[in-house]
Amino acid sequence: MDRFDYTARPARIVFGPGRLDDVADEVSRLGRTRALVLATPDLAAFGDRVEKALGDLAVGRFDGAAMHTPVEVTTRALEELQRAGADCVVAVGGGSTTGLAKALAVRTGVDQVILPTTYAGSEVTALLGETENGQKTTRTDPAILPETVIYDAELSAELPRPIAVTSAVNALAHAVEALYSPDANPVVDSMALDAVEVLAAGLRRLAAGTDDLEARSDLLRGAWLAGTCLGAVSMGLHHKLCHTLGGSFDLPHAPTHTVVLPQAMAYNAGAAPQAMARIATRLGVPDAPTAVYDLIVAAGGPTSLRELGMPEDGVDRAVELATARPYPNPAPLTTDGMAELLRRAWVGERPPSGAPLASAVAELTDRVRRSFDTTANPRLAGLLADLVGRLHGFALDNDLRQDEWQAGIDFLTRAGHITTDVRQEFVLLSDTLGVSSAVDLLTNSRTPETTSSAVLGPFYVQGPPELAQGTDISGGLPGTPLHVDVTVTDTDGRPVADAPVDVWQSNEDGFYDVQLPDVDGPVLRGRLRTDIDGRLRFWSILPCEYPIPADGPVGDMLTATGRHPYRAPHLHFLIDAPGHQQLITQLFVRGGRYLDSDAVFGVKDDLIVDFTPRTGPAPDGRDVDGEWRRLEFTFRLRRL
Ligand code: BEZ
Ligand code: FE
Repeated sequence: MDRFDYTARPARIVFGPGRLDDVADEVSRLGRTRALVLATPDLAAFGDRVEKALGDLAVGRFDGAAMHTPVEVTTRALEELQRAGADCVVAVGGGSTTGLAKALAVRTGVDQVILPTTYAGSEVTALLGETENGQKTTRTDPAILPETVIYDAELSAELPRPIAVTSAVNALAHAVEALYSPDANPVVDSMALDAVEVLAAGLRRLAAGTDDLEARSDLLRGAWLAGTCLGAVSMGLHHKLCHTLGGSFDLPHAPTHTVVLPQAMAYNAGAAPQAMARIATRLGVPDAPTAVYDLIVAAGGPTSLRELGMPEDGVDRAVELATARPYPNPAPLTTDGMAELLRRAWVGERPPSGAPLASAVAELTDRVRRSFDTTANPRLAGLLADLVGRLHGFALDNDLRQDEWQAGIDFLTRAGHITTDVRQEFVLLSDTLGVSSAVDLLTNSRTPETTSSAVLGPFYVQGPPELAQGTDISGGLPGTPLHVDVTVTDTDGRPVADAPVDVWQSNEDGFYDVQLPDVDGPVLRGRLRTDIDGRLRFWSILPCEYPIPADGPVGDMLTATGRHPYRAPHLHFLIDAPGHQQLITQLFVRGGRYLDSDAVFGVKDDLIVDFTPRTGPAPDGRDVDGEWRRLEFTFRLRRL
């Protein structure tokens, strides 16, 4: 089951071409009346447009935002903010302008409205990197997260195409690394995969020469989604490498991301096969890293560190820096691996493709599937072909090694060796993997108005002793007395009379009679028949939790995976009334142990019932010493 932490960042997103016109409304919406407009000298025209759209709300202007958010620039902007008496900032531009807005917000608490012109994504993160005396520091603080982001594709449409390409690949990198992040979660995964798809769509349009508003809108939406991933989970090799290269060789940020991404993906492909397969599926390609490389080439982006100005003799130093400090990444960071990655990145070589292997396996899969074409039974043919497809896919997606497959074969061999007439390890395996419950659901749970079914289990014995109503099936074994009073009806509530009902359960120590060498003959089991009112009453003892047989390979699997072998306390029923659908089920003791972690995944909410504690005389007049329990339940069967 999924287990994850996800913090939704409370930012307002305003998306669509022409939404710059809403900037005044957005400032007012925040309850602010005095805005300082932030821009850069080369985007002064955007600054003017924003100022105009703000009208009286604009009280100041600062066009000095610079790369890496230098503290001295922030200090000057702060003076302007105070001089103007501004209560919010409105920033239009790329990462530098957003960085300045964040730096002001974290110092003064002013609200931020950001109009991004690139695909950097930093406008939706609570991260801020600043430089002082050449030293870069990064911090995170809720106050850093901008309150409102206006994504107006018309602004980013003016971003020159080469910058649009590298900026979009920079965004793509956030989405890619989110998918194999140690703190990945399904919410972020969905955003990351959507980002991959929409960024690729935008890049493909740019590559095809259709650099229109639709392409820019795709890229902007991808940038937002990818930026959200960046703000939500930690990044790996690619981001660390780009950071190192940028810092040590003064390489430009987005182009460095563009060169490194396909190489870093190829490096991680073997260790993160699922992430790569999901990316490849969204891209509609067999191999994700090479497809990203090809897309960059097609869109005219840079592919080599050489063309970005990195000296060749810098590669060795970069390898040293990249492997100096360990950090979480799917593939281990080795000196040789990093040297090969950086050599390729320096010359701009296409990364190695996993695709030939994938297509060889696909071809093999196809041949094996076709070998079933001669099967007379079409259902069998379909099941076998699908099974082979999934097994091959399992091997491929997990890059399965020979020794791992052999371990699986050995496991099944041991399951075969331990299986006898009274010990079925394969059923136990199916049970503990939840397959029995899945098949049971598919077979027996298509009618919500009937009582849920549950697995049969290995302790059912055919032809149990016929017992009269009111019998005590405990055979005198110790335990808390249990009076069972159940009714069998059809789905309209009509009683099913004379229905044979097989019941069986474990003793106070969790053992069934067949497991107890000292117990002679059947006990705690029997076949009873409902009376004219569909009612069945008998005595037994309160069932308790017990471990499934754990001394074989299934037990080893449970140990290896840190799972316990216990079943929640339950009573088994098999009701086989003529003219009705057979019902095999179990009733679980409410409040019993392991209801949430039953080893065979057999518990269903409607099967958890009260085994109510009682004292005093029982309904049939039996005088019970001390506490006894009462179980009442109505089984609903489907009429055939
Ligand atoms: C049982 O409830 O008897 C059972 C079911 C599946 C596996 C082991 C035991
Ligand atoms: Fe059982």
